[in-house]
Amino acid sequence: MSETPSAVTVAAQVRVPRPRFHHVGVQTNDLENSVRWYGDFLGCRRAWSLDKFSELTHSRLPGIRELTEMVLGDVRFHLLGRAGRKSEPTESAVQFQHFCFSVSAPEDLVLLRRRWTELYESGRYTFAIDEQPTDIVTDDDGVQSFYTYDVNGLEFEFTFVPDGQS
Ligand SMILES: [Fe+2]
Repeated sequence: MSETPSAVTVAAQVRVPRPRFHHVGVQTNDLENSVRWYGDFLGCRRAWSLDKFSELTHSRLPGIRELTEMVLGDVRFHLLGRAGRKSEPTESAVQFQHFCFSVSAPEDLVLLRRRWTELYESGRYTFAIDEQPTDIVTDDDGVQSFYTYDVNGLEFEFTFVPDGQS
C-alpha cells in the first residue's frame, strides 16, 4: 500500500519565511507636528525624508507629500504626510487599532505618562483627540498598562510585563 503525503505534510516541507517586524506607517495631515512629537515624546531621531514617490506610491496613497522615517531603537515609524480629514477613533474603520511598547520597569510607565502630560500642556503640539492618558491599570497577572493617543489620534499602549511572562 503506497502512502500519499497529505497537503499538510507537503506544506510542512516547504521552507516557511519568518517575517520580522520592520516599521509602522503612520498617516498624518501635519507632518512637522508629528515629527516633533515623536522626537520629543519617544526620543525618536529623524533618519531620512523623501518627497519624490513612485507611481505605485501615488496610486496607493493619493495626495502624499512627504515621508519621514523616525527611529527608536529597533522600531521605525514611517510618518506619511498626506492631506486628509482628522481621524476619529470613535468611528469603527479598518485600521490598526493600537500598537504597544513594553518597558522594563513599572516606574517607566509613570515617567512616560508624566512626559506625555508635560508635552500636552506645553501647547507646542496640535492633538487630534483632546483626551488625557488613561490611568495605569494592573491586570490579574500583574501586567501594567496605560493607553494614550499620539498627535494624530492613533492609540498607543505602554505596558510592563513582569519577569516570566511574555
Ligand atoms: Fe494591547
